[in-house]
Amino acid sequence: MHNTLFVHASPHGKHALGYRLAQKILAKETARNSNVGLIERDLLAAPLSPLTHRYASALASHNIGDSIDAALTESEQLISELEQSDRLLIATPMHNFSVPAALKLWIDHVVRVNRTFIASAEGKQGLLQDRPSTVLVSAGGMLQGDNPQPDFLTPYLTLILNTIGIRNIHFVYLQGLAFGEPAIDKAWQQAQAALIEADVLTNEMP
Ligand SMILES: Cc1cc2nc3c(=O)[nH]c(=O)nc-3n(C[C@H](O)[C@H](O)[C@H](O)COP(=O)(O)O)c2cc1C
Repeated sequence: MHNTLFVHASPHGKHALGYRLAQKILAKETARNSNVGLIERDLLAAPLSPLTHRYASALASHNIGDSIDAALTESEQLISELEQSDRLLIATPMHNFSVPAALKLWIDHVVRVNRTFIASAEGKQGLLQDRPSTVLVSAGGMLQGDNPQPDFLTPYLTLILNTIGIRNIHFVYLQGLAFGEPAIDKAWQQAQAALIEADVLTNEMP
């Protein structure tokens, strides 16, 4: 049994190109193996709570008591979704050269010292199981090719996932989406080709 955790963070929800491409990936996973489960985390339809004083204090405390447990309930739920899955699929827009605020909040809930990573003299060591992970990044401008814009999203999300133990990460870009229909078509074709090359999609998919 495989379980994919699908995290998506576009304000356009199901209309976002990244969401639609993710659906193709999920359909392909099911076609390959009917014994596949899905955990979906829609960060816009069900926004996470802002970080509270209790949450920040709980992270700093070594005494895990009842009140601290309560402060960590939402974080525990999100971490358990990562623990119950062995695949990760993230569809995210680029906002201001980095991850959107909704995805940053998810990160702040799941990257927890002594829970998903430990800090040691050698640096931070992730405690979660590594798994094949695909990140679909949608951007209005260009991230690759001639004259690309700065990209803080890719190195940041790579470091964040590495921190909690996830190292097998494949980034695919839907870029230039602000330049009209021909550019969107081209971005869609290029992203599909990249996914086929990575064996995440197959040629037979419609
Ligand atoms: C607040 C905000 C900030 C954005 N910042 C960037 C940016 O830094 N670089 C870029 O290429 N596009 C930027 N965009 C454009 C989005 O990345 C683009 O519209 C993308 O298609 C959104 O993908 P989605 O449909 O999955 O939400 C920004 C859009 C918004 C709403």
